[in-house]
Amino acid sequence: MMNKSTRGTMFLAVLLFLSVAIVHAQEGKTTIKKTPIPNTSAASGEEMFNTYCAVCHGKSGKGDGPASSEFKIAPANLTVLAKNNNGKFPSDYVSQVILTGPRDAKAHGSKDMPVWGRLFRSLSDQGVVKLRIFNLSNYIETLQEK
Ligand code: HEC
Repeated sequence: MMNKSTRGTMFLAVLLFLSVAIVHAQEGKTTIKKTPIPNTSAASGEEMFNTYCAVCHGKSGKGDGPASSEFKIAPANLTVLAKNNNGKFPSDYVSQVILTGPRDAKAHGSKDMPVWGRLFRSLSDQGVVKLRIFNLSNYIETLQEK
């Protein structure tokens, strides 16, 4: 049985319908299906990354996920963020991009990188959203090339 709050959550999921790309690669043909955001453990950066990010950025974070070729602006290589920032992982920047989208998104009109802050708020309250972003950023730090 659905109580009122479950129905509210499902309605949000429908609004978010266009926001997460799931890729089916079959017989060499890639089709992208947008689906409602699935839930994951906020405690596992790895689980969140593989569920939400790997489709574009690749499991390794190198920007070579199965959907990556579909975008005009390629999903960024997330393994060189530290290298490109004098060896220091830019965790504030990464958290901000996850929360509000890439810095340049408006200037370049790129809507390809989903605004995860908004999506995560549909799953959980503000404290858990912060935890998700914190754990995701920490996980991306572990993917940095040495
Ligand atoms: C639908 C494809 C897609 C998904 C899914 C996706 N991204 Fe992205 N991401 C992009 C694209 C495309 C860019 C480059 C955008 C631009 O430059 O305008 C990007 C850029 C970024 C950047 C900026 C990197 C830099 O060098 O400045 C970060 C950080 C990032 N993504 C993290 C994530 C995280 C974390 C997730 C999962 C929660 C995620 N992305 C999921 C497509 C995606």
